Amino acid sequence: MDDIIRIAVDGPAGAGKSTVAKAIAARLGIDYVDTGAMYRALGLKILCTGIDMHDPEELDKLLKSTEVDYAKGHIFLDGTDVSGLIRLPAISKMASDCSAIAEVRTHLVRVQQAMGHRKSIIMDGRDICFAVLPDAQYKFYLTASSDVRALRRVRELEEKGEPCNFDEIKASIEYRDYQDSHRECSPLRKTEDAVLIDSSDMDLEETVECFLSYIK
Ligand code: DC
Repeated sequence: MDDIIRIAVDGPAGAGKSTVAKAIAARLGIDYVDTGAMYRALGLKILCTGIDMHDPEELDKLLKSTEVDYAKGHIFLDGTDVSGLIRLPAISKMASDCSAIAEVRTHLVRVQQAMGHRKSIIMDGRDICFAVLPDAQYKFYLTASSDVRALRRVRELEEKGEPCNFDEIKASIEYRDYQDSHRECSPLRKTEDAVLIDSSDMDLEETVECFLSYIK
């Protein structure tokens, strides 16, 4: 019997996908992969090298010579742990920008599918339900209002003592929402077979319990 569990979670920026997916992975004792962190790592490399990502030759060379790996809650770029760098606003924007390029998506989807091969896994992102793990037994679309998402981010940054501005954060979330769901290649969308969970009025524990109520 195939007792491998695959759980796919999609949704817009700041919906809490990573936090929820990490908690579910811990509860079920399975692996977790944050695919957004992989786009962020690649965005970091594009920024650092200064290549023109719209030049197919330059991009191809970069993709062939770059290693992006996610393991045990850390993101590695060419073997270096870059988890502390990828949440900067400039990287969020670059991750969203580079994720609209078909070659980037083909490359990372292949890496992500290899990670989910023959083991139980929960992955979160924008295209997991329909591109990365289309055969997942459990599919979810997690969302929340942009006000709630921005407020959660503000609280997170305040707890770290980082200065922030609600309106700027809300604008950057809405920029990425628009771009991620309007790009030509694999735009973010809820698939028909995914369960819609709106966490606007739920805390983390309630959201995790809601997910688990669907997972047998
Ligand atoms: O989940 P995140 O905010 O860390 O993702 C950063 C960006 O990467 C997001 O704006 C869109 C892109 N992304 C994607 O296109 N597909 C995924 N599976 C994950 C992220």
